[in-house]
Amino acid sequence: MAYRSLRSLAFAVDAERVHRLAMLGLSAWSRFCDVDLDADDVARDPALARTVFGLTFPNPLGLAAGFDKDAECVPAWQALGFGFVEVGTVTRHPQPGNDKPRLFRLPADRALLNRLGFNNHGAEACARRLTSWRQRGRVKVPIGVNLGKSKATEAKDAPADYAFSFNACADVADYVVVNVSSPNTPGLRDLQQTAALAGIVDALLELNAQRTRRVPLLVKVAPDLADDDALAAAHLCVERGIDGLIVSNTTIARTGLTGPIPEGPGGISGAPLFERSTALLKLLHDDVGQRIAFVGVGGVFDAGSAQAKLKAGASLIQSYTGFVYGGPGFARDVVKGLVSG
Ligand SMILES: Cc1cc2nc3c(=O)[nH]c(=O)nc-3n(C[C@H](O)[C@H](O)[C@H](O)COP(=O)(O)O)c2cc1C
Repeated sequence: MAYRSLRSLAFAVDAERVHRLAMLGLSAWSRFCDVDLDADDVARDPALARTVFGLTFPNPLGLAAGFDKDAECVPAWQALGFGFVEVGTVTRHPQPGNDKPRLFRLPADRALLNRLGFNNHGAEACARRLTSWRQRGRVKVPIGVNLGKSKATEAKDAPADYAFSFNACADVADYVVVNVSSPNTPGLRDLQQTAALAGIVDALLELNAQRTRRVPLLVKVAPDLADDDALAAAHLCVERGIDGLIVSNTTIARTGLTGPIPEGPGGISGAPLFERSTALLKLLHDDVGQRIAFVGVGGVFDAGSAQAKLKAGASLIQSYTGFVYGGPGFARDVVKGLVSG
């Protein structure tokens, strides 16, 4: 109720400015308050704990990539009840992202439109921040690091660009994600085609094989892939030995939206994405689910939508837009519903 009033105030202000303000508050909280969860906190209910790609998750709901790109607020996400956190997308080269305005709310559709374009401080800065959280004993849930291609890097050099970021982050990441599915970096989604994807995946798997601790490696796909192309990408990942698929990123489709749509390009997240991302998750899981783990993301707003992702084959779920609309109590509400449901 309190968040509803705050939300109507916040929604009157430019979306990216509110995001920045929220991040300032959450990073101050993260730095100064070492909040640990009680053993009887619903976010630590043993009934929800699970082991996926060799990692133990206290509950299956994670914060999706993009909210905390530079790993500024890791302790706050744990304290809010998330069972894991995916930071990033980070790129080899720090970059400012696209011109503003580039983040919009679509309240009539419980959605967001963004064309941020991987604004981030770079993979090395992210690694330094995670090192610092870890050295201070502040990391209590698995942390994924999501990697993207720098805008300045040509597609043919993508494997080396991802490899640089992988080397920078692998020591401090519990798992690493190859993001080839954001719609806001020109040409990025073409890297989902099997030949291009193989080049990136093989480069990272080779580096991973040389490490003493092998890091689980995941690939995040777009909901706009044709089913056959998504299946081809999934088969490639399975054959090469990728540990998991994240389904899905935002969509460039504008179908199903009922309210006003901001002009210009960008990816839609939230409720309108639920159906396609869940259908794609089920399609891929039905095909290769015995051999690879799935993370379901897209339109998770409550325990019902989270449960639907689990039923479609996800071992873990993530949310971004649901948290924006649901507020600080979001993760615990979802988790509570999963325990009782
Ligand atoms: C503002 C915004 C920024 C995002 N940035 C990233 C990103 O940097 N990397 C990424 O892999 N996904 C990014 N995403 C996609 C989310 O991680 C997620 O896949 C997508 O929003 C669907 O989940 P949702 O419906 O719960 O928001 C972003 C989403 C939003 C709304």
